[in-house]
Amino acid sequence: MAASRRQQLVFLAPLLALLFLHSDTEAANTTINGTSAADGASLSSSSSAGPMARSPASSPSQQQQQQQSVFSLDRYGGRGDGKHDDTPALASAWEAACASPRPAVVLVPGGGKRYLLKAARLSGPCRSSVAVAVKGTLVASPNRADWSDDDDKKEDRTHWVVFRAVDGLTVSGGGAVDGNGEAWWKNSCKVNNAMPCKEAPTALSFHYCTSLRVEGLKIVNSQQIHISVEDCSDVQLARLFITAPGTSPNTDGIHITRSKDVQVTDCKIKTGDDCMSIENGTHNLHVSKVVCGPGHGISIGSLGDHNSRAEVSSIAIDTVQLYGTTNGARIKTYQGGSGYAKDITFQNMIMYNVKYPIIIDQNYCDNAEPCKQQKSAVEVSNVVFKNIKGTTITKNAIKLNCSKNVRCHGITLQNINLKMEGGKDKPQSSCQNAEWRKSGTVLPQPCTTAEN
Ligand SMILES: *[C@@H]1O[C@H](CO)[C@@H](O)[C@H](O)[C@H]1NC(C)=O
Ligand SMILES: *[C@@H]1O[C@H](CO)[C@@H](O)[C@H](O)[C@H]1NC(C)=O
Ligand SMILES: *[C@@H]1O[C@H](CO)[C@@H](O)[C@H](O)[C@H]1NC(C)=O
Ligand SMILES: *[C@@H]1O[C@H](CO)[C@@H](O)[C@H](O)[C@H]1NC(C)=O
Repeated sequence: MAASRRQQLVFLAPLLALLFLHSDTEAANTTINGTSAADGASLSSSSSAGPMARSPASSPSQQQQQQQSVFSLDRYGGRGDGKHDDTPALASAWEAACASPRPAVVLVPGGGKRYLLKAARLSGPCRSSVAVAVKGTLVASPNRADWSDDDDKKEDRTHWVVFRAVDGLTVSGGGAVDGNGEAWWKNSCKVNNAMPCKEAPTALSFHYCTSLRVEGLKIVNSQQIHISVEDCSDVQLARLFITAPGTSPNTDGIHITRSKDVQVTDCKIKTGDDCMSIENGTHNLHVSKVVCGPGHGISIGSLGDHNSRAEVSSIAIDTVQLYGTTNGARIKTYQGGSGYAKDITFQNMIMYNVKYPIIIDQNYCDNAEPCKQQKSAVEVSNVVFKNIKGTTITKNAIKLNCSKNVRCHGITLQNINLKMEGGKDKPQSSCQNAEWRKSGTVLPQPCTTAEN
């Protein structure tokens, strides 16, 4: 035990170091509206967020030749005092940057400034690549009335800052995005059941973006989901520190849907809901060096609700630690769906005090009424759970609850060692309708209860 603790610490140290580093690269040649930048210090760090610095395709000499134009919120009337509405300043700075023929930087100045924003829509296509360098803090209006309550305007209510249809967008800078979510949480039906169940805004949404980088940011206290990536491709999310109280309702960390070629690395996510939720239409997603907890763990799904079709493939979840989360590695689908979730690997995971460490649930149901039996199901296949160790706080360490009609198949359990916290009791594993194989040592012994 002592030896394995040491190993865990050795493993942890470089990971934590990575999580809090922001890569500041060499200063790029920066101008403000075409004039040479006076403030070299602040701009040199903003340029690390620049599109040139991140593009492996352009050589260093090309990088020096290219110029960036900087569009600071303060030049467009931004106050950054946390009180005035800076939404118009952001909108104008964005519009100018997006129209720039040269790579552009939208600068959110630092120095303790807080830019108060209502709903903001930042849309492309842009003439050149755009980087948003968040040095200070973007803070959401705490006034819920700034979001429409009208069900016809649900799209408006459920988003705070949205980037849409931008190619080559980078959002970074080491600053913060603060959803100011308390007012929303206490009015959530999950917290106060006298309130109607209405969705709250997602803090940062990326819709239809290609070649997207979001890196080196703190995203805190979202009203609901912290980051949502939808209909995007070629995405890198890195060095994000996402936090909200463990009791905050529906505050997923990172939500991904209808997107392909996505990498998530070096992130630390502590929230009240899923650390990551991986939904329909996600293909070729690689997650590595992520630390989760508190929260609900990493989930693929729910898929197939309301008899819908789902398609999820090529998902690798690698080198993840989970602290006190409800689930560890989970796939959940509703009865009655169709389509597939396939070629999925969860590996090199360490779990501390997780409630349900390994779970495939093809009979998922979160309705008030029990869900009725249905014949069709989302097919779950080629799923590997490998090199997973740690502790569980319930007996249900490994649970494969698959569909009677569409059995899950190609499930591999390899090198798993899950113990019950405290070590007094032995954890268990139950399976229904699962075609699985075991490789190496698997503890608990898989599928020893309720097998059929
Ligand atoms: C930069 O451009 C904006 C918008 O065109 C303008 O309002 C601002 O005055 C310009 N700043 C400088 C320093 O030229
Ligand atoms: C910055 O750009 C200008 C104009 O393109 C160029 O003359 C100058 O040498 C560049 N400076 C650096 C440090 O690259
Ligand atoms: C899921 O994605 C598939 C394929 O893109 C699509 O046909 C289906 O309608 C989507 N399901 C839902 C619930 O959106
Ligand atoms: C599997 O799912 C079914 C349907 O939801 C449920 O009745 C059963 O109790 C589950 N089995 C286990 C072992 O949790």
